[in-house]
Amino acid sequence: MLMHAFLFLVALSCYIFIKRNRNFTGKLPPGSLGWPYIGETLQLYSQDPNLFFLNKQKRYGEIFKTHILGCPSIMLASPEAARFVLVNQAHLFKPTYPKSKENLIGPLALFFHQGEYHTRLRKLVQGSLSLDNLRRFVPDIEAIAVSALESWAGSHVINTFREMKKLSFEVGILAIFGHLEVNKKEQLKENYSILDKGYNSFPTKLPGTPYKKAFLARKRLQEILKEIISGRKEKRLPEKDLLGCMLNSKDEKGGILSDDQIADNIIGVLFAAQDTTASALTWILKYLHDHPKLLEIVKAEQQVIYELNDKGNSHLTWAQTRNMPVTYKVIMESLRMASIISFTFREAVTDVKYKGYIIPKGWKVMPLFRNIHHNPEFFHNPQQFDPSRFEVAPKPNTFMPFGSGVHACPGNELAKLEMLIMVHHVVTRYRWKVEGSESGIQYGPFPIPIHGLPARFQKQSTQEKRITCGASCYT
Ligand code: HEM
Repeated sequence: MLMHAFLFLVALSCYIFIKRNRNFTGKLPPGSLGWPYIGETLQLYSQDPNLFFLNKQKRYGEIFKTHILGCPSIMLASPEAARFVLVNQAHLFKPTYPKSKENLIGPLALFFHQGEYHTRLRKLVQGSLSLDNLRRFVPDIEAIAVSALESWAGSHVINTFREMKKLSFEVGILAIFGHLEVNKKEQLKENYSILDKGYNSFPTKLPGTPYKKAFLARKRLQEILKEIISGRKEKRLPEKDLLGCMLNSKDEKGGILSDDQIADNIIGVLFAAQDTTASALTWILKYLHDHPKLLEIVKAEQQVIYELNDKGNSHLTWAQTRNMPVTYKVIMESLRMASIISFTFREAVTDVKYKGYIIPKGWKVMPLFRNIHHNPEFFHNPQQFDPSRFEVAPKPNTFMPFGSGVHACPGNELAKLEMLIMVHHVVTRYRWKVEGSESGIQYGPFPIPIHGLPARFQKQSTQEKRITCGASCYT
């Protein structure tokens, strides 16, 4: 009931906004705006959202209009259109998020901004996650992966996605703070998890609701972060992690970032890093589980490294993580198949003309990454999981798991590193069995295998390892 009321209010405000701003001239793209107020939101949620977009594309082509979540929107399903919005004419389209979500993450986080402020923050995040910095993280990420896997092993069933979330959170903390005091880490974890639970709930400040709890946890996070920031300021160490980069940053006039700016961006990066990477890791384990021959080939590749590293007694090296060609292709194909960020939102800041159509000011624009990744014109037999397709580089702008242009993901190399390290340890030391026969996708809001992929993990015996090593002889 509350949900319906909320949808109605959002729809009404958008409707009033559009009525007021209806003075554009030009032809709108084909498509349907559905019912007054609610548009096509019910159609979108009564089926798999990916099918909704795919059916629309079949019917109307690569650019079409619809009206969802209270907003008139233009969907773009071609690589050129995605490039137009995200790269070539990015200044004509601003990032757009519901205010309720912006408030939970923090309005000063980089992804809500454009222009100078965004560029400054982006350089800092990118710098702290540069390849040169990432190589230092290999042993720590390895330790996080090994300890997670050890805790999963045994006869109990684990929820793979939930466990992967814990892992990607730890890696996020590492990238932001380097080594953080256990007590502070626990405080951040506890409060962030409350924020996470309320993030997709109905935004009301009524006491006891998940949104209100998230809002309060957000306030506590701010306080904890301020304590960490002040501790770091006292130490005056030139750390290279994200917090260090933000503390040392000065603009042309010598201006430093405020504690609020730093805190909002820390929460923003944790948010951007956690569910995305956890979802990708969960899909990788699902695809490997469902393709046993491929799993053997990946195991063979990783087993060679395992043997070289004295049966896992010495650390993976950065160079080894850069030379795992089969595993890398499995990761790329998993990102294509799962298309974790199926689409993104922007808002036209002025009336924009594209291919003879008008995109009116204030309308949402959504480049549909998943439709592009699943278009047989660019990826032959797109429903088939086939990492070998990445032996040839995809055509330009057809593969965008990490987005494109000014807001493209600055964490993509860290995410890939995390996945390579995790795959190395899981295939060389464990076997896993997915529980239950149900298959399907769940959205939370990122796509994950149904029920988070419940699975049992067992340590491999020496005998099993010998058999795997044999496979390496013929690959
Ligand atoms: C498999 C894992 C990941 C995927 C699929 C992913 C995907 C994306 C995509 C598609 C965007 C662009 C969104 C848009 O254009 O609206 C993005 C932005 C972003 N990502 Fe990631 N991401 C992943 C992991 C990470 C990690 C590990 C971090 C940080 C440690 C991170 C930090 C960010 C940030 C800060 C932005 C906003 C950039 C900006 O606005 O300039 N992401 N991500």
